[in-house]
Amino acid sequence: VNQQLACDLIVSNAAELCLVPPGGNSLGVVAGGTVACLNGRVIWAGPHAHAKGSLAPLPGCVTVDAGGQVVTPGLVDPHTHLPSYGVRAREFELKLRGAGYLEILAAGGGILSTVATMSAASDATLRGAARGDLDFMLGQGVTTVEAKSGYGLTADAELRLLRLAAEAGSDHPVTVVPTFLGAHAIPPTFKGKPDAYVEVILEDMLPAVSRQGIAQFCDVFCEPGVFSVEQSRRILQEGERLGLRAKLHADELAAGGGAELAAEVGAVSADHLLFASPTGLAAMAAAGTVAVILPVTVLALLGGEVGVEHCRRQVAQMRDAGVQIAIGTDYNPGTAPCRSMQLAMSLASRVFGLSSAETILAATTHAAAALGLVGKVGSLVPGSAADLVIWEAASHEEIPYRLGENQAAHVYKAGRLVKGRMTT
Ligand code: NIG
Ligand code: FE
Repeated sequence: VNQQLACDLIVSNAAELCLVPPGGNSLGVVAGGTVACLNGRVIWAGPHAHAKGSLAPLPGCVTVDAGGQVVTPGLVDPHTHLPSYGVRAREFELKLRGAGYLEILAAGGGILSTVATMSAASDATLRGAARGDLDFMLGQGVTTVEAKSGYGLTADAELRLLRLAAEAGSDHPVTVVPTFLGAHAIPPTFKGKPDAYVEVILEDMLPAVSRQGIAQFCDVFCEPGVFSVEQSRRILQEGERLGLRAKLHADELAAGGGAELAAEVGAVSADHLLFASPTGLAAMAAAGTVAVILPVTVLALLGGEVGVEHCRRQVAQMRDAGVQIAIGTDYNPGTAPCRSMQLAMSLASRVFGLSSAETILAATTHAAAALGLVGKVGSLVPGSAADLVIWEAASHEEIPYRLGENQAAHVYKAGRLVKGRMTT
């Protein structure tokens, strides 16, 4: 006996409805698919032909015809440095002339120049910039965004950035998931005394962040020449002890045991991983640590060993290890002045060789897994958030296929239209 389900939103008859079952490796495409929602959650999804007998639209129920279009879960960007502010175009120019990323940082530029710019900017300026960034991301179909501090580097300044991220997200449709990244660089005041700065993170910053309940994750830029594996381990373990799950910038510029450390501490994700070892990736798979690749950043690091073949080899090793792959923008003023998840996805397919299905999984359920939100967002199965995108695309391959355009036609957050016109 079919009990009919009450609903307040029906998106019907998509050319391809991508259910993206939580944590899986298939898109779960339903041709001619319909998804029904109630109170901001999905309550039913299946073939259009079965919808009529299964659903009982409430008075005022919105019905949208997605005929000919693809419907996916709202995108999840699992790695951004939001709030970030300021322009580093001169540094971009220096890099084009051959300067190295760590060379610029050592000279007080790079991350440290953004720290200076952001310290001098008012709360209103930074909050406004972050809101503008969230608007742009939402317009691209992104409904959940991770946001890292890391351009403060003192307890007060880091707490301020976390507060501003929360404020920017509080009255915005995009869900902001905050990460504390006090270990992003050694501030000039601690030049040559990195361990003393680590003590400040352990003694002052982490307890305050935890007490204020202002971040969910703790991240470290673990890289030879920045924070060592030993320093990173201490910070991540203390974070875990205080209720902040670990994330890690790992093996971005050189092999340094970052992937191994991420697995050891049970990190929810390890990100970049351009130089992660096969052993480290296998350990991540065993620990359930998601591999977040950042294709836009790769464009800033091209040259030397880093090229398309290198990236594809890393992905082959990730597949062999059986680790879940997610994609992020890494939005920041240095390596990735890019807010576009759609561009990151197109580059993931072209540079890293991800299939279209892998790319969409990586921007939905696997990205959700990188934030500990698998099943809650990034899927369109009953119980998941009614966050969804109706694409200007007739098949899912068309999403990574095009680049440099915004193909997100309609965006729904928690069952509410937040971008696009009512079609029916
Ligand atoms: O993920 N690697 C460290 N952090 C950023 C870059 C931040 C910056 O250059 O301002 C990244 O690439
Ligand atoms: Fe980053």
